[in-house]
Amino acid sequence: MTKGNEPTKADFVVVANRLPVDLERMEDGTQRWKHSPGGLVTALEPFLRARHGAWVGWPGVADVEVDPFADGDMWLHPVRLSAAEFREYYEGFSNATLWPLYHDVVVPPVFDRSWWNTYQRVNQRFAEAAAEVSAEGATVWIQDYQLQLVPAMLRELRPDLRIGFFLHIPFPPVELFMQLPWRTEIVRGLLGADLVGFHRPGGAQNFMWLARRLAGFEPSRAQVGVRSRPGVVQVGDRVVRVGAFPISIASGELDQLARTKEVQQRAKAIRAELGNPRRIMLGVDRLDYTKGIDVRLNAMYELLSEGHASVEDVAMIQVATPSRERVEHYKQMREDIERKVGSINGEFGRVGHPAVHYLHTSVDRKDLIAFYCAADVMIVTPVRDGMNLVCKEYVACRGDLGGSLVLSEFAGAAAELTSALLVNPHDLDGVKDTMLAALNLDQAEGRRRMRALRRQVLTHDVDRWARSFLEALGTSPTS
Ligand code: ADP
Ligand code: F6P
Repeated sequence: MTKGNEPTKADFVVVANRLPVDLERMEDGTQRWKHSPGGLVTALEPFLRARHGAWVGWPGVADVEVDPFADGDMWLHPVRLSAAEFREYYEGFSNATLWPLYHDVVVPPVFDRSWWNTYQRVNQRFAEAAAEVSAEGATVWIQDYQLQLVPAMLRELRPDLRIGFFLHIPFPPVELFMQLPWRTEIVRGLLGADLVGFHRPGGAQNFMWLARRLAGFEPSRAQVGVRSRPGVVQVGDRVVRVGAFPISIASGELDQLARTKEVQQRAKAIRAELGNPRRIMLGVDRLDYTKGIDVRLNAMYELLSEGHASVEDVAMIQVATPSRERVEHYKQMREDIERKVGSINGEFGRVGHPAVHYLHTSVDRKDLIAFYCAADVMIVTPVRDGMNLVCKEYVACRGDLGGSLVLSEFAGAAAELTSALLVNPHDLDGVKDTMLAALNLDQAEGRRRMRALRRQVLTHDVDRWARSFLEALGTSPTS
């Protein structure tokens, strides 16, 4: 892949909004690269490293020009965004229009014409960058909602390429998608791919319905299966496949790491630092309003106020990675969450025993695994989530069959993790009762559930996800 220190054209290219590393500017004027947040990077990075591929993406800071560089076995190709593009394409159209629209309109999406213009312009730049780095006949795998126009733009530039697209967030019900003023352009953009992948068959069916309704192309009628029976849309003389490929994690690797002495000792130390409570409850999320962090805080408040839990008995930890901090709904949500944590701690905390240990930070991988190992109850309560990898990570780390998982029915993962304690995050009583049941779960019952969950997560890892997608795309996953 390399000729001296110069990148050559790549046979396998991932195109995503972010590179797997973010550039961070330090106060002393120096800069360093750090791991990017979010599930997309967690899922794709191990796979791309193994394939020695190229990754086209934004370096996480506006207005910087960075030359392509090698990161271990991958070549990274930074795409520059100006400060205005960052505001209008990333914060605006991606995260204040598409994100809420695709997550069941949890907050109202903003429809702004200048953001749309910038979204088109930036997508064109990503398409040009991908065209530039791809070898003749290469496979290009475009990722997520920020880049939905890239498949058609890239096909226009490079008809020789095999193009896949995967959406990491939910694809909305058609009634909601139809609100988007640029709905036809988005559907046509995606139809530029040879394969369009979603987490769930429902997303694939919705998309095929829209391909007919908005673009006039005839889709197949049979139900789409999971990793099987993709649907087909005939687009002129091309066939576009549409399938469901539930994403996962490098579960075997996490399982091994969780068993190491270092992690086990760290988990014990975490429990000791908390004062050896009977139960530890844990939430780990990007600080996003879709994640239902407020739901679990409200449930915890009621458990404490009704005397079902005490701060000496149960320690709750919430680790929240800062995310999209300048977008209005994120600012508001952060204030709400922090006010709620403050009032719960003010009312119920005791010296040395806060009710909620709230960390507004990203933690390093080994620490995160130690938190998973220490947690008796993992709380994952999104009001809508494409998949949610956190719950799969927790399961992968519990080789001891300990711990229980409370999981929202509205996470894509709920369709696979049916042995979790499933909750409707809109039903506060239900969430509260289930959290209480999880805190007092019979050990044999807990082990039975965890065994079933682990069977799922360890056999359906990220490698299988990527292979099933690439096989459906008609490209050898190992070449
Ligand atoms: P999303 O892609 O919406 O952020 P996922 O649950 O699919 O949600 O993926 C989140 C990823 O980010 C997981 O790999 C998780 O371990 C990681 N993560 C989330 N919060 C933190 C945190 N506070 N510190 C470190 N990693 C985190
Ligand atoms: O999986 C959803 C997603 O938006 C990814 O596209 C993204 O990498 C991740 O969450 C983190 O979000 P952001 O890149 O906006 O910080």
